[in-house]
Amino acid sequence: MADSEPLPSLDGDPKAAEAWLRDVFEIIMDEAIHKGTRTSEKVCEWKEPEELKQLLSLELQTHGEAQKQILEHCRAVIHYSVKTGHPRFFNQLFSGLDPHALAGRIITESLNTSQYTYEIAPVFVLMEEEVLKKLRALVGWSSGDGVFCPGGSISNMYAMNLARYQRYPDCKQKGLRALPPLAIFASKECHYSVNKGAAFLGFGTDSVRVVESDERGKMIPGDLERQIKLAEAEGAVPFLVSATSGTTVLGAFDPLNIIADVCQRHGLWLHVDAAWGGSVLLSQTHRHLLDGIQRANSVAWNPHKLLGAGLQCSVLLLQDTSNLLKRCHGSQASYLFQQDKFYDVALDTGDKVVQCGRHVDCLKLWLLWKAQGGQGLERRIDRAFALAQYLVEEIKKRKGFELVIEPEFVNVCFWFVPPSLRGKQESPDYSQRLSQVAPVLKERMVKKGSMMIGYQPHGTRGNFFRMIVANPMLTRADIDFLLDELERLGQDL
Ligand SMILES: Cc1ncc(COP(=O)(O)O)c(C=O)c1O
Repeated sequence: MADSEPLPSLDGDPKAAEAWLRDVFEIIMDEAIHKGTRTSEKVCEWKEPEELKQLLSLELQTHGEAQKQILEHCRAVIHYSVKTGHPRFFNQLFSGLDPHALAGRIITESLNTSQYTYEIAPVFVLMEEEVLKKLRALVGWSSGDGVFCPGGSISNMYAMNLARYQRYPDCKQKGLRALPPLAIFASKECHYSVNKGAAFLGFGTDSVRVVESDERGKMIPGDLERQIKLAEAEGAVPFLVSATSGTTVLGAFDPLNIIADVCQRHGLWLHVDAAWGGSVLLSQTHRHLLDGIQRANSVAWNPHKLLGAGLQCSVLLLQDTSNLLKRCHGSQASYLFQQDKFYDVALDTGDKVVQCGRHVDCLKLWLLWKAQGGQGLERRIDRAFALAQYLVEEIKKRKGFELVIEPEFVNVCFWFVPPSLRGKQESPDYSQRLSQVAPVLKERMVKKGSMMIGYQPHGTRGNFFRMIVANPMLTRADIDFLLDELERLGQDL
């Protein structure tokens, strides 16, 4: 085809393209935003995979389809997707649909730029630094560095790589040959990304020493000290402790000050994985849970979780002011980071990271913060704590519900004990039968579309539900619904 002719479809007709996109936005407003956040609508529309493939007409063909047909695809994609903004989506550590954060995501996607140079992302380079500065200040640092990463797992991996580079700068060039066997310490409640990172970065999962945690899920500093000595006696070199502020299942906060003392005594890098609990720093009432975080070398924090900024929004914050990020990851690509540019090349932050192109993740948080202010965000955090406490009280009041532990955060872990198991705690197969309840109820709620809540076994405990109170739209009525619905779904068990 001659290139003097526009391509078929919407490519050559900007007006038609705009009109079509307006139709798409209307579908998004209607299906994802309006219906997706109404309790009168379902959280999910379960279909078996084969049926779903048919319903979505997934197969890609050689010919393009009519615009009306594409609109129908858009509608179907939303219809059959899980509505994570729904007030009864309790399944993950993120939930809710904040309009300002969503506006940030839509603008980001519409502009479709990369965060690496001031040249093509002037607004976002300045904005990223401003947001990072604010988050660092909440940690307690008046200076430092940081970067937005594609998720908390990657933020944790960056911390591991930086800690290694700081101690053994040769490893950037010489790789693992430059290193003695290294030891990383994290509690058994830590996020699995610590293990994944150890494998990915070449430490090997054997180099992760698992530190005991207490019955509430907090790292036991005495055991950390013991493990450090053990690793040394075995010829390994301890270099990093990864503490957790807000563990994934129990929502526990490790005692950071005591852990920081241990790190100081042994000269170890302290990383705090606050992917989940970092947002608590915004609450004057609850921020004591992270006391000592200012003593960390690095902090991972996911505003896409409790702050509801939207996926993905995760930061790695550093106390370092020696340009460690850039020294560790920089590669000085001359086609991108030209040193003779007409502006201050320090604004080209792309060489701080291992990626080349980098998604803009700061705008959604910046807009959310602009709209809510620190005070509004604090109110959200405090309200989530209060609603979690309400749930705890209701669980204690109701027959057939049993708390796993008294929570200190917004993870509320509990068993639903169905009628046939009540009063049977002494029978030998009680735990095994109780463990089968959550998967059955999960299937029922998903197929009905009434709500979604996660469950898991944990240590020696059989499956229990983990309720996450994160959606700022939640009210007591939704909490009551959760308990009532579990009773309804499990009354015949
Ligand atoms: C404590 C903790 N750290 C890290 C992560 C990983 O974050 P992401 O899912 O953004 O990789 C999670 C995820 O749930 C988490 O709970």
